[in-house]
Amino acid sequence: MKIFIDSADLSEIRDAADMGVIDGVTTNPTLVAKAGKSMRTIIPAICEIVDGPVSAEVFATDTKGILEEGRELAKIHPNVVVKVPLIADGLKAVRIFTAEGIKTNVTLCFSLPQGLLAAKAGATYISPFVGRIDDIGGDGMELVAQLCSVYSTYDLPTQVLAASIRHPVHVVQAAELGAHVATLPHKVILQLVKHPLTDLGLAQFLTDAKKIPS
Ligand code: E4P
Repeated sequence: MKIFIDSADLSEIRDAADMGVIDGVTTNPTLVAKAGKSMRTIIPAICEIVDGPVSAEVFATDTKGILEEGRELAKIHPNVVVKVPLIADGLKAVRIFTAEGIKTNVTLCFSLPQGLLAAKAGATYISPFVGRIDDIGGDGMELVAQLCSVYSTYDLPTQVLAASIRHPVHVVQAAELGAHVATLPHKVILQLVKHPLTDLGLAQFLTDAKKIPS
């Protein structure tokens, strides 16, 4: 499973990239607003740090606007993936982007039928929002399982990108289900690194290292 970082914070992205654990980046308008920089500034800066797919989301909600904005985003860097909301106008734009060779990440997916339509339209990635489904008492991972299974049954090339990941257990489940990608907040990447037995073991080794004669 590929691991993307879900962030527009350059220091977080640099930190994860330095560890060598990320294959790409996803952003959304909320994350970019938090970073306090324009799309034109932040997306090229991210592409400088990570050599992999970088999802940049359009703000328009009509097909013409999505196409205009998406084409501009795609011009920023060859690694840019245009992130499009899962609405009818978005799917129309995805069909055209796909014909033009522009990669897409269809976002805000909350059901299998939505995901099936996104794949039919030619989406490169589908982003099921696992945590947000869990938040309203559903089972977000069940949607990841359904998408993986149905795409595989019908040989659909769209990649399942597990999004809205909130904790390490989500990552384990996404990997076990065969999600192609999971996009993780920086905090979750750090949680994955940590293990109490590693810390205990290291403390012991460091103590014992002092006893070694030089
Ligand atoms: C995915 O691409 C989104 O940016 C993200 O995973 C949303 O996560 P959230 O539900 O924690 O905001």
